[in-house]
Amino acid sequence: MKKIKKIAVMTSGGDSPGMNAAIRSVVRACAYYRVSCIGIYRGYEGLIEGDFIELTARSVNNIINKGGTILKSARSEEFRTKEGRAKAYEHLKENEIEAMVVIGGDGSFTGAVIFNEEYKFPIIGIPGTIDNDIFGTTHTLGFDTALNTAVEAIDKIRDTASSHNRLFFVEVMGRDAGFIALNAGVGAGAEEILIPEEDLGLDRMLESLKKSRRTGKSSSIVVVAEGDKSGKNVYQLAEYVEENLQEYDVRVSVLGHMQRGGSPSCFDRVLASRLGVKSVELLLDGKTNLMVGLKNNEVISTSIAEAIKGGHSINQELLRVSDIMTT
Ligand code: F6P
Repeated sequence: MKKIKKIAVMTSGGDSPGMNAAIRSVVRACAYYRVSCIGIYRGYEGLIEGDFIELTARSVNNIINKGGTILKSARSEEFRTKEGRAKAYEHLKENEIEAMVVIGGDGSFTGAVIFNEEYKFPIIGIPGTIDNDIFGTTHTLGFDTALNTAVEAIDKIRDTASSHNRLFFVEVMGRDAGFIALNAGVGAGAEEILIPEEDLGLDRMLESLKKSRRTGKSSSIVVVAEGDKSGKNVYQLAEYVEENLQEYDVRVSVLGHMQRGGSPSCFDRVLASRLGVKSVELLLDGKTNLMVGLKNNEVISTSIAEAIKGGHSINQELLRVSDIMTT
């Protein structure tokens, strides 16, 4: 088997804390195995434009602790077209790049699968998204940090909620996945948690809020995922409760993009370091079309196609725990 001499790395889609640590790991693993490493700016956008930079072990000094991504990120419309992908392939050939590590979420991996089908180009994926909605890993890069950010913010909201005897609706990220809402909700002691995977019904929420008043709670927090299934956004939910339960003084807080930023947690840094090394080793071993991930604290690999199709399921035990905690 011909040894790969040059590997490229990119970050794509919504950024997540730990992406820099993963770039560092890929670059350092390349240096360790004496393979050249090229950074691609702005994900597939930069690939189409040939916006590349050579990365050495020293290029990635002092980034393990930094949020965001030094390579920048984008969601590329042009890469969805055949013409865009043809331009991308030309740049890879021109620069003698023989394999690529894509750090991103399911959208980025879908692009990777199509590109591999068309050009047989070796690709390994590293799951990087705060949403944790990728099959084939129990943790995506950035999820742990985002959770801690959300819990810290909700703790602060609790202080003011409790001082004023108020009910707060706190919206957390997650268009299609309730992992952040459920875990941050349980971690921050939320009264109710609304997620995209299950429609718990508005009546149930009203009942639960009534009950908490009856049983002596003076303030409450309801955590709502961006994409929850109630059919109402967080402001409409607040209005709905104000109309139906006039005893409540309601406020809304949308945490938004702050959840995507900040220094990665130690967990995310260690995960990024492990997944980066594994992705380079798989490529040097002649493997392709795999996503690296974590299961039972072991680094594993899954076919990227399966990782995209596999979907995600919410932890029913955690839902049950959250229910019991509202007693
Ligand atoms: O996929 C990560 C994520 O942060 C989602 O939780 C959120 O719905 C989405 O990205 C927001 O995307 P954008 O920053 O492009 O608006």
